[in-house]
Amino acid sequence: MTIGQDRLHRRMARGTAFLGCEVAILCGAMSWVSERNLVAAMSNAGGFGLIACGAMTPELLDAEIAGTKALTSKPFGVNLITMHPQLFDLIAVCAKHRVTHIVLAGGLPPKGSLEAIKETGAKVICFAPALSLAKKLIRSGVDALVIEGMEAGGHIGPVSTSVLAQEMLPEIAEQLPVFVAGGIGRGEAIAGYLDMGAAGVQLGTRFVCATESIAHANFKRAFIRANARDAIASVQIDPRLPVIPVRALKNASSELFTAKQREVAQLLDDGKVEMMEAQLQIEHYWAGALRRAVIDGDVDNGSLMAGQSVGMVTKEEPLADILATLMAEAAHALEARAA
Ligand SMILES: Cc1cc2nc3c(=O)[nH]c(=O)nc-3n(C[C@H](O)[C@H](O)[C@H](O)COP(=O)(O)O)c2cc1C
Repeated sequence: MTIGQDRLHRRMARGTAFLGCEVAILCGAMSWVSERNLVAAMSNAGGFGLIACGAMTPELLDAEIAGTKALTSKPFGVNLITMHPQLFDLIAVCAKHRVTHIVLAGGLPPKGSLEAIKETGAKVICFAPALSLAKKLIRSGVDALVIEGMEAGGHIGPVSTSVLAQEMLPEIAEQLPVFVAGGIGRGEAIAGYLDMGAAGVQLGTRFVCATESIAHANFKRAFIRANARDAIASVQIDPRLPVIPVRALKNASSELFTAKQREVAQLLDDGKVEMMEAQLQIEHYWAGALRRAVIDGDVDNGSLMAGQSVGMVTKEEPLADILATLMAEAAHALEARAA
């Protein structure tokens, strides 16, 4: 083992102990992309895969977990969206399979959900978009946090990863494992966040073009061609209808999203839907649009959710190779620090 590898190993020790794997890198759950093949490939390579439950029914999640278990004996987790109307049934499915780690995404955990997860024996990981919320989540008993900046692909907050890391890691990293996400494309950045106190990192965009990923060839091609500046955040058109911005490669679907927002805002105005239902309709729109691109390969009208690190995705390659590259870059950066 080189000095760099040894340092990397030690800096990741807390994260790997928490996750129960060899490398403290999570493959962030990506709806439609993070199914059994990508999840198993990530875990088999020594990292930590996460099934994206998204809008799946409990029956579908049941089948997906079973399918993943058939492909790997290594640990993996499940990402559940807090807004899902059957959240507690999904938690029960995870319990049945003895899933060890559950990530709650998409907003603050609803009442009773943390307790329900803890009762199953699983560890709970939440997203903390600000320091105050992180402290609140720590008080309510979460086991680990992900802090994700606006460089990320998919739904995003307003603050960059580098600012969140500086603001939050010194305050909370000693209390529980914190994983940094958003805009990470190379190992040097991973080494940097570990030095700042992160227990590990979470990447999404960088893994989309893994050979094992079932994303359509057109979707992967769009990633390989794109530059950082092509991954732009969606725009809210109506101040009365707050929508969480989504970062994706620009294409014709931005106009479709504008039209969808107008349609839903009109339903709100007419009193035909409540705000909660309006926001759920927006989320269903995204799930459908992402499916069109990832599964059907419609890269014009579907949503090409991608982070700004997309410019560093240059080819399709086995997941184990991507992970090995990231680890080698991180070790090299830490080795250089000795000089
Ligand atoms: C195509 C795509 C779909 C995503 N879907 C989800 C999701 O369903 N749930 C979730 O919590 N995060 C989702 N994310 C965010 C990732 O899990 C991860 O946190 C993010 O990609 C990390 O930032 P990066 O893309 O800069 O690496 C998605 C990201 C992408 C690129």
